[in-house]
Amino acid sequence: MTILVTGGAGYIGSHTIIELHKANHEVIVVDDLSNSSKESLKRVEEISGKQVKFYNFSVLNKDKLKGIFKTNKIDTVIHFAAFKAVGESVAFPLKYYHNNISGTVTLLEVMSEFNVKNIVFSSSATVYGDPARVPIDESFALSVTNPYGRTKLMMEEILQDVYRADNKWNIVILRYFNPVGAHKSGRIGEDPNGIPNNLMPFISQVAVGKLKELAVFGDDYNTVDGTGVRDYIHVVDLAYGHVSALKKITDNSGLNIYNLGTGKGYSVLETLHAFEAACGKKLKYKVAPRRAGDIASCYALPDKAKRELDWQATRNMEEMCIDAWRWQTNNPEGYKSGK
Ligand code: UFG
Repeated sequence: MTILVTGGAGYIGSHTIIELHKANHEVIVVDDLSNSSKESLKRVEEISGKQVKFYNFSVLNKDKLKGIFKTNKIDTVIHFAAFKAVGESVAFPLKYYHNNISGTVTLLEVMSEFNVKNIVFSSSATVYGDPARVPIDESFALSVTNPYGRTKLMMEEILQDVYRADNKWNIVILRYFNPVGAHKSGRIGEDPNGIPNNLMPFISQVAVGKLKELAVFGDDYNTVDGTGVRDYIHVVDLAYGHVSALKKITDNSGLNIYNLGTGKGYSVLETLHAFEAACGKKLKYKVAPRRAGDIASCYALPDKAKRELDWQATRNMEEMCIDAWRWQTNNPEGYKSGK
């Protein structure tokens, strides 16, 4: 199949393209590079030995987007392109609504016009808000606590409405838990702008000496050691989940929603200690106040994806840390580290 990947130069997108290539799909990328670099696509081509057709603009650009659909026969779209920083979304909500919501609506309009009605959508466990209990299955109540999360929930709702109005659409909504790690080659990985917001990239920058110490946001949660618990999933497992979702799309089975997680939760301190084992050094940390909007525990019940997509995460925390560390040491400045 020919797959249009929006946001394909980003962290999850770039890893997904490699799995798509392995499964013999043709890949076309549209990405405005607002939070990613073209170097990632160069390295993807080097790893998979296949070409990626790249368009450098935003999905908000309707005319240019139509041009892609005119010149290529697209079978399915995997839609990653979105802003994703929680704190920034609180400070600049309209930026998030414009980019994430208007971008998705524009994409869906163009797809509809060209009669391409197959889409895999990147959602997030953030749509479960503060869950009543763990593990979380797909039927849990949805709620959000910040504009970023609200855009993800709104995009899910928009897709539901589109499907209700026209059941020729095939839609798979994937709710990711916490993606970490990197490709085995050490050539592609997560490359956050500035100081990382997320735990694993923060820890790896402490390990490589770019940051002094980790601030552990709260040690008084009702968890194993008082620190927040999350379901970390290796980005390559997550990437492969999209290949499985494509098979579901070709079954013509309407709209389906899946959690992509491992089903196991790790606390902040457990994650820190796993990373220490991977990099072979002790890492400095201090306990700091809770971060606003954080919840105690969040981990998936991933059984539905196993049952219906025949997909399951296979890489453990040790592998996640080893791979993240390899990427960080080989590329201390991310893609700016050069060749
Ligand atoms: N944490 C720290 N110190 C840090 C960073 C994080 O202690 O410097 C803690 C957090 O308090 C939390 C855990 O590490 O307990 C994980 O935090 P992340 O920021 O890595 O991830 P979150 O679970 O907060 O959020 C992530 C994504 C969101 C997404 C959400 C879905 O960043 O985009 O998962 O569950 F919506």
